[in-house]
Amino acid sequence: MAEQLVDKFNRVVDYVRISVTDRCDFRCVYCMAEDMVFAPRSEILSLEEITLIAQAFVELGVSNIRLTGGEPLVRKGITQLVENIAALPGLKQLNMTSNGSQLPHLATPLKQAGLSRLNISLDSLKPDRFKQLTRTGDLQTVLDGIMQAKSAGFTDIKINCVVLKGRNDDEILDLIAFIRQHQLGISFIEEMPLGHIDEHDRALTFMSSADIRDIITQQYELESCDEHTGGPSRYWQFADGHTSRIGFISPHSHNFCGSCNRVRVTAQGRLLLCLGNEHSIDLKSVVRKYPGELEPVKQAIREAMDLKPERHHFELGEEVQILRFMNSTGG
Ligand code: 5AD
Ligand code: SF4
Repeated sequence: MAEQLVDKFNRVVDYVRISVTDRCDFRCVYCMAEDMVFAPRSEILSLEEITLIAQAFVELGVSNIRLTGGEPLVRKGITQLVENIAALPGLKQLNMTSNGSQLPHLATPLKQAGLSRLNISLDSLKPDRFKQLTRTGDLQTVLDGIMQAKSAGFTDIKINCVVLKGRNDDEILDLIAFIRQHQLGISFIEEMPLGHIDEHDRALTFMSSADIRDIITQQYELESCDEHTGGPSRYWQFADGHTSRIGFISPHSHNFCGSCNRVRVTAQGRLLLCLGNEHSIDLKSVVRKYPGELEPVKQAIREAMDLKPERHHFELGEEVQILRFMNSTGG
């Protein structure tokens, strides 16, 4: 039988998120400080090193890889990287989370390179507010990117939306109308306390998935779906038969650690065993000590499984315990 990665709590790890860069052309207020310092280039995994690590995971039974950032599409050579990883025998899905800004010109090449699916972040449909929330982003470019992804042939495109009370919670129904109109899915994400930010107090902007659902059900009847992806999302569908799905990612109000099937690799080659804990090993030093060799990476990954913690604890109002920002973690 093919090898599988299993942790101490008998969870099978078959899903890896790989951050290909910590850089981003946006500065979303919940993700980054305004003046971020990015890692020096020499500390970032090369495309060859990323491919080697991806291959090691796939040979260890991983069937689903998601490329993230920062913004993965600002990394030079990203299309070639997608092509190389998509070709790994045994990989069933190669997905990407993007802010959409480069999709007007990259959606078609990415589809041709073998990317399976796209998640695109969109927190507001109002140009001024979009600019405030992303600090540098342009709404129309992202909307064009979404439409280009559709015409390039991507299906099951999902919008990621972080809802902040008092900032964009009044747009929940507009976003629902938008995804229904364009046949997209949507996931509403509770803000997580990753990295120290000054822009807002996360305890005040916190909006629970239940609060969001209450707003949606003012206008639409929802039915919960039984579907389990092994991920943190819980899915709902419209009772009127519309095919768009609504997911809720609730790290605060719903602890999903018991069925966690995933690990993360940061742009600096750190293998993180849990989003909400610091448990990690340094894969970069392994690939740099044994360049191009698969077995040492595979052995390091196997051994790391014992470090995967049972669960995370996110507490609002406490000092930030996780000093990593989301852009180096990869969502
Ligand atoms: N809490 C929740 N979601 C976040 N994202 C970035 N930072 C945070 C945070 N602190 C989201 C982005 C993107 C996804 C990769 O992660 O909006 O959709
Ligand atoms: Fe960039 Fe995504 Fe972070 Fe926004 S949330 S700054 S788009 S990495």
